[in-house]
Amino acid sequence: MSQPERRILVTSALPYANGPIHIGHLVEYIQTDIWVRFQRARGHECLYVCADDAHGTPIMLKARQEGITPEQLIERTWHDHTRDFADFLVEFDNFHSTHSTENRELTELVYARLREGGHIVEREIEQAWDPQEKMFLPDRYIRGECPRCGAADQYGDSCEACGATYAPAELKNAVSVVSGSAPVQKKSLHYFVKLAGFEAMLDAWISDGAHVQAPVAKKLREWFDDGLRDWDISRDAPYFGFRIPGSDDKYFYVWLDAPIGYMASFKHLCARRPELDFDDFWGADSKAEVHHFIGKDIIYFHTLFWPATLSAAGFRTPTSVHAHGFLTVNGQKMSKSRGTLVMARTWLEHLDPEPLRYYYAAKLGSGIDDIDLSLDDFVQRVNADLVGKLVNIASRCAGFIVKGHDGQLADALPEPALFETFAAEGETIAAHYENRDFAAAMRVVMGLADRANRYIDDHKPWILAKDPARAHEVQGVCTQGLNHYRQLITWLAPVLPRTAQRSAELFNVDAFVWHDAQAPLLAHRINPYKPLLTRIDPAQVNKMTEASQPPADAGKPASGATDLAPECTIDDFTKVDLRVARIVKAEHVEGADKLLRLTLDLGGTTRNVFAGIRSAYEPAELEGRLTVMVANLAPRKMRFGVSEGMVLAAGPGGKDLFILSPDDGAEPGMKVK
Ligand code: 2FM
Ligand code: ZN
Repeated sequence: MSQPERRILVTSALPYANGPIHIGHLVEYIQTDIWVRFQRARGHECLYVCADDAHGTPIMLKARQEGITPEQLIERTWHDHTRDFADFLVEFDNFHSTHSTENRELTELVYARLREGGHIVEREIEQAWDPQEKMFLPDRYIRGECPRCGAADQYGDSCEACGATYAPAELKNAVSVVSGSAPVQKKSLHYFVKLAGFEAMLDAWISDGAHVQAPVAKKLREWFDDGLRDWDISRDAPYFGFRIPGSDDKYFYVWLDAPIGYMASFKHLCARRPELDFDDFWGADSKAEVHHFIGKDIIYFHTLFWPATLSAAGFRTPTSVHAHGFLTVNGQKMSKSRGTLVMARTWLEHLDPEPLRYYYAAKLGSGIDDIDLSLDDFVQRVNADLVGKLVNIASRCAGFIVKGHDGQLADALPEPALFETFAAEGETIAAHYENRDFAAAMRVVMGLADRANRYIDDHKPWILAKDPARAHEVQGVCTQGLNHYRQLITWLAPVLPRTAQRSAELFNVDAFVWHDAQAPLLAHRINPYKPLLTRIDPAQVNKMTEASQPPADAGKPASGATDLAPECTIDDFTKVDLRVARIVKAEHVEGADKLLRLTLDLGGTTRNVFAGIRSAYEPAELEGRLTVMVANLAPRKMRFGVSEGMVLAAGPGGKDLFILSPDDGAEPGMKVK
């Protein structure tokens, strides 16, 4: 390797643990993963850590709504997130949680050092408070009429109709989104980090051109000119987070402990890999690099609060913060009703992960512009570039080598100079990857793919092969073609790790590393060709967007069953023990606005079941009715108690939920079959 080996730690922003990963999130994880794989291919030590961002009011409320504990919610989400990332070939060295011992310890340490350094001030502030839920309300949890234009149902901080920004107290007829009651103003003591004290340090940090991109530095300048205000790092109970030591029921604001989660995840990794030392990467005099990949909406947190916090606490500051733009789909904001808010899982049910990785790579520059996923262009481009150009090179050449030459590549290239011309582009491509200008890297690679195809078109091995006297020429041309393919897939391996792996199997080697593109593979036996990538059928994309649309509009009759689950056998069906049950009691559940607690009689034994049907039924109309339940469902622990089964209901939700009833004559306990 021409450069000295670097020690690099890379992070992506920590996703909130209250919802699934979607294709908007994936821009960042794919971008980061490509950069990490590139660094490793270059021979550097590159570690990639992340975690779920598990704290805060939205997570607390979501768990409450589902009738589970926040711990249960974040545990479940952690599994979903890890699976989604793995299936998109995003390979972390560690994916942790901010609700962890490491993070608690580090957050308490950082806070203690902030206090010791005199960086914390305490001040009483007045905020909106929900008297029914007995909680302070973040601005997003208050809605009312805009004080400027009067538009109804606006958030507590800004109006979507006229763009006005205001304090929540200015909203007219405000209500708490949590309980529906009118918020009152209430005082409480908060802890603030005095950011002004870090002005000189931050000014130097953002101005030297190394740590942030130029447009980010420009934005930061504006914030600087407005003056840095103190940062409120405490929240009152009830809150899901870490309690502040020495306080009476105050919690660290999620945005204090979230970035510390980067360190905590790394610390957790160190425990598993004894050769890694935490201080080598985070100590004040660390020689290692730390790179954060983030979306442009969280620049303030990562380029002002975070370096200030780190330096006050005696840790190193980041090498770079790399921000990217947002994703639009078909030129517009992602939207549920258009089916363009596609969850990672839905994508995977219809399409492979690599085409999306390639498309994002082909769109991503080093700046903070938004990128657009145009679905028609996506199909066209992936089919043209990856199938039509790239894989085509290998598929046109491999057969002749395997069938005509027993898999043996020629001893020499017929055109070594052409190989060298390609090889000379390796450093250009590397520089583009390094600068995160993946779009430029893809352009160079695809330009070379065109040249490789032209070479094959010019030499027409399929014609040469008809003449047994020219077998040697066929072997040469195809060896040349395959070696160009090997160069290209080596450079694309960070983007297409799976196709690169399949290609390595074709070439009968373990894997490709960057310098493989510099010397040809000759006099070597390859394996029979197996398809490396298949064309995308536009129908698959349509199915995916259909599956991403909300269920048939409430109120409208469903248009028939067009989205049946995969076929099951009678054995599958009989695993589910369905029984007739009588609802002997139905009641509201305090603190759960979607649930009813049902007591079900199964003909002697009774079961306690929490059913999400409160929006459609009053308890009184259910009592005494017969229905059908799943009687052998594993019990599920919820915040309000254990649910011991499930009642069957149909419909899209809201008022349109319909529980099943058996015909007259059925008795509690009867088996449904
Ligand atoms: O904006 C978000 O989605 C946050 N969960 C990102 C946190 S990044 C880091 F600072 F933890
Ligand atoms: Zn308004």
